[in-house]
Amino acid sequence: MTRKILVTSALPYANGAIHLGHLVEYIQTDIWVRFQKMRGNECWYVCADDTHGTPIMLRAEKEGITPEELIARVHGEHSRDFAGFHVAFDNYYSTHSDETRFFANDIYGKLQAARLIEVRSIEQFFDPVKQMFLPDRFIKGECPKCGALDQYGDSCESCGAAYAPTDLKNPVSAVSGAKPELKSSDHYFFKLSDPRCQAFLRQWTQGEDRLQTEASNKLQEWLGTPGENKLTDWDISRDAPYFGFEIPGAPGKYFYVWLDAPIGYMGSFKNLCARKNLDFDEYWKQDSKTELYHFIGKDILYFHALFWPAELEHAGYRTPTKVFAHGFLTVDGSKMSKSRGTFITAESYLQQGLNPEWLRYYFAAKLNGTMEDIDLNLDDFVARVNSDLIGKYINIASRCAGFITKRFDGKLAKVERNSIVEEMAGAAETIAQCYEARDFARAVREIMALADKANVFIANAKPWEVAKQEGKDELLHSICTEGLAMFRLLSLYLKPILPKLVQRAEEFLNVAPLHWQDAGFQLPVHHLINPYEHLMQRIDPKLTEALVAANRESLAPAADSHSQQRHAEHQQHTENVVQAETSPWEPFISIDDFSKVDLRIARIADAKHVEGADKLIQLTLDVGNGETRNVFAGIKSAYDPATLVGRLTVMVANLAPRKMKFGMSEGMVLAASDTDGKTPGLFLLSPDSGAQPGMRVK
Ligand code: MSP
Ligand code: ZN
Repeated sequence: MTRKILVTSALPYANGAIHLGHLVEYIQTDIWVRFQKMRGNECWYVCADDTHGTPIMLRAEKEGITPEELIARVHGEHSRDFAGFHVAFDNYYSTHSDETRFFANDIYGKLQAARLIEVRSIEQFFDPVKQMFLPDRFIKGECPKCGALDQYGDSCESCGAAYAPTDLKNPVSAVSGAKPELKSSDHYFFKLSDPRCQAFLRQWTQGEDRLQTEASNKLQEWLGTPGENKLTDWDISRDAPYFGFEIPGAPGKYFYVWLDAPIGYMGSFKNLCARKNLDFDEYWKQDSKTELYHFIGKDILYFHALFWPAELEHAGYRTPTKVFAHGFLTVDGSKMSKSRGTFITAESYLQQGLNPEWLRYYFAAKLNGTMEDIDLNLDDFVARVNSDLIGKYINIASRCAGFITKRFDGKLAKVERNSIVEEMAGAAETIAQCYEARDFARAVREIMALADKANVFIANAKPWEVAKQEGKDELLHSICTEGLAMFRLLSLYLKPILPKLVQRAEEFLNVAPLHWQDAGFQLPVHHLINPYEHLMQRIDPKLTEALVAANRESLAPAADSHSQQRHAEHQQHTENVVQAETSPWEPFISIDDFSKVDLRIARIADAKHVEGADKLIQLTLDVGNGETRNVFAGIKSAYDPATLVGRLTVMVANLAPRKMKFGMSEGMVLAASDTDGKTPGLFLLSPDSGAQPGMRVK
């Protein structure tokens, strides 16, 4: 029976780049979805950008664009990155959509009708300059416990204490620097403490296999023992100014981003239904027979296993069949770090020329369906991919294909009874169960154990020797045919993980796209294959070194301490966090990069105003050996030409000459300036006395 399955991955925030940590989730989900489709199930995979909230609003403001412009741009970047890693959503949408607004209003209205919404006045910090209420993450001050300076409003990075922003000493607004004031305002709450919610969640979280063991234990902890009533009401509103959906009947009040984010799953699916002519209700009505799965990181379990099912249940919709939580990515055993260059973006991985399927394979080899963290060890990554994919899998095709093409016109022989081929075909269900259970690591182990057997078969049969022997054509033909039969089965089993590579393998084998049931068939005698072309490159370890170098941002420890580490890596989700600021320092360059810049001492032989240019001074630079250079320098605001003549300075001597309106500029003089504008002015560099024109600066 074909199953009808709807699958989601968490919606990434629309204010930051996709990084390898995110990809643990999207690649994992994509593999599972591809597997379901290969099994012949009707499976839909939807996702969207999570577009609302204070950080996105402030980020857009800082960039001088509207939130709509920001989320449109990021939607393009995210779509590009996911496509680059072959993550094949059936729909990648946005929570800032009519569909999501519709369901947010609908669910809210139904909860209200069920008397599960309550309005209460609460006191909160307010920024008097910015005229807005401040999320905890936008308040800084001294830790009430240990006194550490510059801590956020919810917890201390120095001593680990958790507290309310009102406990901070000397609080300041991280938005304007102003001293925040306490101010009260009406907030809307979802009454999670209502006995109906408690009772429902207690039963729901215990549902058959609904949650992994670790997750279910966490839930028990959050729910407490029956009678303990540990759940507190959830604040679902935020005051203007806010980027989000205004709450119906509550002017100036907006849904908190986490209210509409999961509803974005429905919005994205609704949008897909219109395009594919699907029945939305069949998937979302209360007694739906279809399956609904959410893949999420362990940090957002609370939202998906408490708030979300409680909302759905009491608004009359179906609840998730299962929630699959995964752990966090570490790189070389530690948290991803910008200063170490291990905070690797999806974009940089592709730009550095690494093959996305190497990462898909490596993640698959590590993912076992639990909530354990997974480590990307870069040396192991290189070794594992090279040994498994190139050394074991691809190797089989490259050893057998040439003989078929050269000696047998590309035609296969009949596949004789071969115990290895049979064993491989017989493994189809075991491997399928591994995929189904999201134990991709075990699937990979099973598949590679089969690949090992295939390689032993070839090593023993030695087609390259048989090929040299007279009268052994038939034997050679059958060895190579069997080798390719093995390669075909391995391709089928690896296809959810390596969709593009296997597509090329299918082209080479000249077969239709492989489905799971094809494991039960063999290629017919005389089947014609295409000439083999190398399917995948080995990973050169230099590539991973370059990748880390390209992502390394700064020497300065400040650059990855508080704001970035915390924002980028601890997702606390009390509010969606501010995207990491870009580092104040440029990325590392090598000494070779630096020595490409030819810096020389120059004497200003002449300086004059340029007619019609209000910023430029025309300099004639003596660069030694009687040579001069003409340079237009943008320093008129700070210097009178007359005072410059005779001075020594430093110039970039090998900057490509540039034709300007006033003539050719043949270099550049160096001057310091303050980028944040606190100290206005320009300060021309001067060498110590004794330096001579033409000397190299290194
Ligand atoms: N916007 C929310 C999710 C809303 S879902 C209705 C969010 N966004 S996120 O961009 O911070 O994260 C998206 C997904 O990526 C989450 O499931 C999160 O757990 C996962 N990951 C983000 N960083 C990760 C790692 N370093 N490692 C593994 N997964 C990580 O949360
Ligand atoms: Zn502290």
